[in-house]
This record gives sequence, C-alpha cells and structure tokens, in this order.
Amino acid sequence: MTNVTIIGAQWGDEGKGKVVDWLASRADIVVRFQGGHNAGHTLVVGNETYKLSLLPSGLVRGKLGIIGNGVVIDPVALLAEIDRVTAQGLLVSPETLRIADNAILILPLHAAIDSAREAARGERKIGTTGRGIGPAYEDKVARRAIRVCDLAEPETLAAKLDELLLHHNTLLAGLGAPIFNKQDLLASLLALAPRILPYAEPVWERLAIAKRAGERILFEGAQAVMLDVDHGTYPFVTSSNTVAGTAASGSGVGPGTVGRVLGIAKAYCTRVGSGPFPTELHDETGRLLGERGHEFGTVTGRKRRCGWFDAALVRQAVKVGGIDGIALTKLDVLDGFAELKIGVGYLINGKSYKHLPAGMAAQAAAMPIYETLEGWSGSTRGARTWADLPAQAIKYVKHIEELIEAPVTLLSTSPERDDTILMQDPFAD
Ligand code: IMP
Repeated sequence: MTNVTIIGAQWGDEGKGKVVDWLASRADIVVRFQGGHNAGHTLVVGNETYKLSLLPSGLVRGKLGIIGNGVVIDPVALLAEIDRVTAQGLLVSPETLRIADNAILILPLHAAIDSAREAARGERKIGTTGRGIGPAYEDKVARRAIRVCDLAEPETLAAKLDELLLHHNTLLAGLGAPIFNKQDLLASLLALAPRILPYAEPVWERLAIAKRAGERILFEGAQAVMLDVDHGTYPFVTSSNTVAGTAASGSGVGPGTVGRVLGIAKAYCTRVGSGPFPTELHDETGRLLGERGHEFGTVTGRKRRCGWFDAALVRQAVKVGGIDGIALTKLDVLDGFAELKIGVGYLINGKSYKHLPAGMAAQAAAMPIYETLEGWSGSTRGARTWADLPAQAIKYVKHIEELIEAPVTLLSTSPERDDTILMQDPFAD
C-alpha cells in the first residue's frame, strides 16, 4: 500500500470534497499541508452536511487529522470551525486533531491588509478570499511571523508583535486603514493559547512513526496547480505552493512519503477571482455550465466563471504538479450538449503555443485553440461502470487522457459517493 496525495489540477473547486472523503474513509491519517481557511468543501455524511475549511476531511470519518506546518492557521477561524462541527456531533479533540507547532498563525491584521490592498488595487485586484492568506505567508518568508509554538512563550510573542506591528501598522496607515494595538493583540492571542496549544506538537515525529508502522496517509491539497505561487497564473494565484511536492515540505516528511498523486479536474473548467482563463465562456453555454454545475464558491459564495475543459492547462498541471492520474469530476454536467469543445493550445499574438507561457500579458492575450467533439444525448449521471456511459462520453474521456498525457483513474458522475467509476485504486501498490 502506498500513501496518496490529492491536488487540484485546474483553478480549484474541482469537486475534491467527494474524492477526498472517499479516500479519507480508507486512510488512517489525513494531512493538510498548505493553504488555510481560503479552502472549503462540503462533505455530506448521512443526514449531516459538514462545511470544512481548515480541518482535514478525515475527521468526518473518524480518522486522525493533522494540520501541517505548511498551513497558515487563523486560530479564531479554527476554533469557530471546531465549535461548529462539534455542535454537529463530530469529535474534535487532541486525540483526533494534531497541529504542527511550527505552523504560521493568521492574525486579524492580515485580513485587514488583504482587504485594504485589494481595495487599493481597484480594477487590478486579484480577487482574494480576503482571509489574510497572502499577508501571512509574506510574514513567514520575511521571518517575522507568529507561529503556533509562540503561544507558549508570552515573551517571544510580545517581542515578535513589536516587529510585526512596526511593519504592518506602517502599511495600514499608508493605506488609510485602522492600525492595530499591541496589547489588545497580545491579550487576545494569550486568551486563545489554552485552547490551541493542547493540539500542538511536532507532527513530523508522529508522521515518521505512522510511516514506520505502515499506516496509510492521505495528503489533502487545497486550491490547485494553476493557483500555485510558482506555477500558476501569477500574480492571480494564492500564496502557497499547491503542487504535490509541497505535501512533503508542508508536513515534514520526505518526498518519497507523498506516494501516488491524484489530480482532480472537472470535465469542464471554472475559476473564481480575477486572472486569465483562456477557455472562459461569456455566453449562454457558460451560464448553463454554471447553473447545472451549481458553480458558487463554498467559502465566499461568489459565482464561478465557467468554460470548456482546457487540456493544455491540465497537461501542464500534470507535469508541474507531479500528477500520476486524474479523477475527472462532474461529467454529468456535460450531458445533453450537442457539441463540446476542448482547449488544446493557445494562439497568442499570432503564434501558437502548446502551453500557457509565463508572461502576464501573454496569458491575458491567450486565445484558446479548440477541438470540437460531438456531445452525447444519453445520461452519464450516476454511472458506476463504463457500460453505463454513452459511447460518445467514453470517447470524450479517452480523448482527454490522450491530450493531458495522464490516465483518468477515477470518474465521478454525481455528488453521491457511490456514483464513481474506479479504474485504479490510488492506495494500491
Ligand atoms: P487567496 O488565497 O485568498 O489569497 O486568493 C488568491 C486567489 O486564489 C483568488 O483568485 C481566490 O479566489 C483563489 N482561491 C483561494 N482559495 C481558493 C479555493 O479554495 N478554491 C478556488 N479558488 C481559491
């Protein structure tokens, strides 16, 4: 048995929740390794609907959840989420949840800066979730961030707040936003400490023991490859690395522990926030995809932009993300279209490309090169075997496999957990 890492292969919201939940039920430990409460998915178990942002999905299945050092943690949001799911009957305790003691904390000033900067950008805004994710990661690499372990050292905390506020209050004042008071921040962090610290530990040690014991680990990625701070559509990206390699550095294990990498991609494509989206549809087809796919953000409720499947983009995500196989979701949303288009490359200022070049102007100018396929009249909804699928739907999936240069190892045909066609068990050796 191998470990499994799940990452998004487009711009997020690929329907990871269902796949993660299914795999979590078969894992021993589920680890979050990057991002923060900008992520969000809905898990339906029995009669309960759980909305998770920071907590690893495995908790819903009674599995040990670990929040790795690569995650940025808003302690207020974390405790609110714990309280919410506890009220729904879930057990979240230091026995079921562990948090890396070297993870970075998001403070209220990070969200304030996130919003103030977005407002200052005006038309050129990134469309962030406004949760302070970017500013918190900036503090991490600038070596002034407050970490979980600092909550146990009031003097360290006080000294670090001085440095942090010198930087951020200057910025906030410049942006015309209210500044923060050190004593208030210190008092609120010290008040949170007794609830956070019981979860804190060097999680790398626990993961090393689990690995030795042959336990199955599922690394649960957030956001997606095209939002990766290095490989995505920069600067319209999130502030962490979302590729599979981050599962290692973001939780304190070696690269070999990451295991098989499953990329999740929708049978079409969506994005929230600003930034390039070559196959975006501004017409009736785009509207229809959004309506049928219920394309509204889980975290912010924003309407998602919709478009055709971009095979050139997913091929790129497969390569840079280290993806071994793709779980293709929401195929049923394409039921009934007379014809379907797939992006296979880009035309930029008269030159054709097989990949999306890095330049911001080039990305903005990228026009999709399409292949057109015949649609299918039958339904794929709820299909559980290849035999349940219309021949043309099989052709669509097979063609995608060729174009993205990776196998489709799982096909999801409805939000129901069992409406899945599994070609290869990701945990199998
Ligand atoms: P941030 O992560 O809040 O800084 O937002 C940066 C960009 O990533 C924005 O375009 C967001 O809409 C996008 N983003 C962040 N988290 C998610 C997610 O979980 N799904 C989809 N998009 C996301």
